[in-house]
Amino acid sequence: MKEPSEKPKFEGLSTEEIQEINAEIAHYEDKSAVSIEALKIVQKHRGWVSDDCLIAAAGILDMSPAQLEAVATFYNLIYRQPVGKTVIHYCNSVTCWMLGAEKVREHLCRELNVKLGEMSEDGAYTLLPIVCLGACDHAPVLMVGDELRLDVTEDTVSEILGR
Ligand code: FES
Repeated sequence: MKEPSEKPKFEGLSTEEIQEINAEIAHYEDKSAVSIEALKIVQKHRGWVSDDCLIAAAGILDMSPAQLEAVATFYNLIYRQPVGKTVIHYCNSVTCWMLGAEKVREHLCRELNVKLGEMSEDGAYTLLPIVCLGACDHAPVLMVGDELRLDVTEDTVSEILGR
């Protein structure tokens, strides 16, 4: 029987994920330069980054799990918990707040029956806060998956959710 210390170093990641991360590493002298890209690769395959995957990715990058966790925590588009199929980021910075973002958030919470940070019961959506998305002249702003939605109203929310 194998002792824990004999476990393969990168257990937790698929061969494909490891290959994709190594392909990125090949472009840089310092493996840690790929840390965000490595996390994105894992998230692309799994939808989020579990502890096991983060530890495995850190091993490939010659980083400690704590170092990679710091990167994951700083970069708010890396999800460390399972999320819905589509993540809706609600901008809670000042311009959006001044122009009605709270009403939009309340409407989203009501329609999805979630609190901020939660996943809808059907697993379709997760609602998360985010800082300024750089489109303040079109506040309030949402990011729905990869798509920026500008000048959002309650009607926009209903349209996004297909209701
Ligand atoms: S404050 Fe919301 S996009 Fe800038």
